[in-house]
Amino acid sequence: MIDHILLSEETIAKRLDVLAKEIDVAYAGKELLAVGILKGSVFFLTDLLKRLQVPVAVDFLQVRSYAGTSSSGNINIVHDLSMDILDKDVLLFEDVIDSGLTLRKILALLGSRKPRSLRIAALLKKKLPENRDIPVDFLGFEIGPEFVVGYGLDLDEKYRNLPHVAVWDPAR
Ligand code: IMP
Ligand code: MG
Repeated sequence: MIDHILLSEETIAKRLDVLAKEIDVAYAGKELLAVGILKGSVFFLTDLLKRLQVPVAVDFLQVRSYAGTSSSGNINIVHDLSMDILDKDVLLFEDVIDSGLTLRKILALLGSRKPRSLRIAALLKKKLPENRDIPVDFLGFEIGPEFVVGYGLDLDEKYRNLPHVAVWDPAR
């Protein structure tokens, strides 16, 4: 069951204000193509894009990588981008980087389509040795290894609509 709130709605909102300013500076004079990795990133992406001043287009990619609380280690493309990203400045939005496997595969896939730039915005990154090399350009919060739900993050498709991020304790 849900154990405790890790990141409140207010904490997340304040962090998004800061991240949006950083993104505006990084993409000044450019046009941004925001790519949300469905479904978990949707809440993060929409709340962040509403704060941006730079012109932005949006597309989505859906891959399957997880069942329950353990990683399958593989991804399939469930829903591909609708846009051609050749020569575009792409910013990928991910909900949480856990092992980093999903993002590594998505980076390879999208990198092969030759965008002008490909950067990463992640709401959460778990502090784990296996994802240390993943270059997150815009990070919301670094968290521990615990399983979390809410603000887009699910447990078997539940709890995505919580306004905060909460720790899930399987033992309770
Ligand atoms: P990775 O491939 O191990 O980095 O896992 C990435 C994906 O697994 C995320 O996009 C989430 O969908 C899911 N995931 C990993 N950790 C959590 C968690 O704590 N809560 C909910 N989903 C998670
Ligand atoms: Mg999930």
